[in-house]
Amino acid sequence: MPPEPAEALARLGMPMEDAMRTQRAVRRLHLDPVSHDVLLPLLELSLKAPTSSNTQDWSYLVVEDREQKLKLAKLWRKLYRVIDPIAVRMAKGDERELRQIAPGQWQAEHFEDLPVFVIPCYRRNLKHKPVGRPQISVASFYGSVFPPVQNLLLGCRAVGLGASLQTLPIWWVPSARKILGLPRSVNPVCIIPIGWAKGNYGPTTRRPIGEVVHLDRYGNRPFLETGAGRPEQAESNGPRRRAAEA
Ligand SMILES: Cc1cc2nc3c(=O)[nH]c(=O)nc-3n(C[C@H](O)[C@H](O)[C@H](O)COP(=O)(O)O)c2cc1C
Repeated sequence: MPPEPAEALARLGMPMEDAMRTQRAVRRLHLDPVSHDVLLPLLELSLKAPTSSNTQDWSYLVVEDREQKLKLAKLWRKLYRVIDPIAVRMAKGDERELRQIAPGQWQAEHFEDLPVFVIPCYRRNLKHKPVGRPQISVASFYGSVFPPVQNLLLGCRAVGLGASLQTLPIWWVPSARKILGLPRSVNPVCIIPIGWAKGNYGPTTRRPIGEVVHLDRYGNRPFLETGAGRPEQAESNGPRRRAAEA
């Protein structure tokens, strides 16, 4: 049974460190609807993020209608049918790898049944474009979308919802645009399936900070040896290692 909205929202008081350490891609979801009384406050909070030039040119497409979800599922499966056999072949009977891809397979098979999709979109203008010449950064376009997305993922984690940032299901932008009725100036950036979590949260396993931090010049990594700030190092085995399936 999903919690009452007030009870769920009260969980937003969770310590920030706990939320950040345990937020992860949760793909196995209960199929019960997610109340707007929970979703809308989370969307509102997520938009406390920065945007380039404070443009705030976001749109959130919230998809709940079954026909719409079915169209999105068909779009996703066109690609999924190609890439899933490759993923299975690459796992080569490796039980751990197979366990890791299982939640994504479950989700692809249940796509139209998932409670709600949030599709963050951003409006293109002369300064903010999703594509450009190789030398010109498109960071201001995508950088205006992913901060609120991460806020939303953290909010979902705190209240007990499962969520994951995904790009593949809307891989063919013209079709996604057509399904969603998006004007040409508005680009869909990713899709976030959301439902009450069935899969596990983290702690997540990430590369040790000493491996990632370079001081003053690339290649100078003084924190590599000290072990500073790496509570999860004992578990770490590179970025592909997962603590548990979700
Ligand atoms: C830009 C981006 C695109 C992603 N696209 C997908 C996707 O298409 N499908 C999917 O299942 N997960 C997708 N993910 C989620 C990652 O696979 C996931 O965050 C990563 O494996 C770490 O998993 P964890 O957070 O559970 O540890 C994407 C993440 C990012 C940041």
